[in-house]
Formats: sequence, structure tokens, C-alpha cells
Amino acid sequence: MTDVELGFRHRFVPGTHPAAPPLLLLHGTGGNENDLLPMGEALRPGAALLSPRGQVLENGMPRFFRRLAEGVFDLDDLRARTGQLADFVEAARRKYGIGAPIAVGFSNGANVAAALLLLRPGTLRGALLLRPMVPLIPEPLPALDGVPVQIVAGRTDPIVPPAGTEALAELLRTCGAEVRIAWLAGGHGLAREDLEIGQRWMEAQEAGGAGGR
Ligand code: MLT
Repeated sequence: MTDVELGFRHRFVPGTHPAAPPLLLLHGTGGNENDLLPMGEALRPGAALLSPRGQVLENGMPRFFRRLAEGVFDLDDLRARTGQLADFVEAARRKYGIGAPIAVGFSNGANVAAALLLLRPGTLRGALLLRPMVPLIPEPLPALDGVPVQIVAGRTDPIVPPAGTEALAELLRTCGAEVRIAWLAGGHGLAREDLEIGQRWMEAQEAGGAGGR
């Protein structure tokens, strides 16, 4: 069932495995709160899943923030919407009794996850970013010491060229995050390897002590 409480239409699936960190699932443009639930379940069976729907509509397609053109973002809107999303995560943590989540974001969802890291550090305990780009460069930069980030990028992605991926990794590393990039041969769309890389990364996080409720 979709819950419209807490400011965001969302789905919440309670966790069944106490060691699994909760996952914040952030869909791409034109997606909704249901899209990434199967991936979340497969990434870490038993994890609590929190999956909001982006509140901006672009020609009827939900997004997490407004853009002026492909890859050109409305930065005031991005800042405001990122704050609202961070507030939602905090309210959802209280309501559902979960710890700080790992974000799993695809495309526009990956970009708002990166914005959460940069603008509201502490909201996320880590992030799996699928086809992200630099959402914005905040002043001052936040401290993200040791926050684990796995980027999965497509070498032939027409929306995010490799230099854009590298720029985001560099930005997050400058803030202190522990960033890895996995390069796939494909483009912007999700591939089977995204899941496999994500599963391995999730396992490594838990082995490294990122568990929780
Ligand atoms: C964005 O607008 O966030 C990026 O261009 C990715 C997309 O949604 O196509």
C-alpha cells in the first residue's frame, strides 16, 4: 500500500533481518515509489525499504527536483527539495523505528541521493549511486568522513559522460567519502551487473559494520 503521510507519497516495507541496514530507494525520472522495491529486496533480502515518490512532475513524470534542461538543474529547487527529502527521511525513521538508511538511487534518484550527501550529511549512512552526475557543488563542502559510496556508471552513457562520473567521485572524495566506481560497458539504463555489484557492495558494508535496524 502507498502511504501519503510524512509529506511524501511512499512505500515502506518493514525489515525482517536485524543486521540489514534500511534502504532508501530513489527512482529515476518517470518512475514511482514501486519501481525499485524488487531491486531493494534483491540487493539485501530482509532490509527495511523506504521508497518515496519524487514530488516534481515533468510532463507528468515524477522527479525529485526540477531541471531546466537535460543535466541542467534548477539549483534553488534542488536545494529546497533535498531539504524536504531529508526531513521526510528523519520523520520516517521516527515513525518506522529504523536507523539511518543507505540510499539506492537511479539516475534522477541517484542525483538527489548525491545532493543529500552534499547538503544534509548525516541523513545517509552510505549510497549506491546508479548513473549519477554532480548535482551541485555546495559551499562550504560537507564532512563525509568515511561515508561509503559505490557509483555504477556506463561507459557509453549519453546522459552522464565518464568525466561527469569522475567529477562526482572526486567531489565526494574531497569531502572525505570512500568512493568506488564500477564501470559497465553499457549506457544509462540499468543492467544485471548493477544488481550484482550492488549486492557485493552491500555485503562488504555489513562485513565492515554498517548493519543496523
Ligand atoms: C536528472 O535530471 O536528474 C538527470 O538528467 C537524470 C535523468 O533524470 O535523466
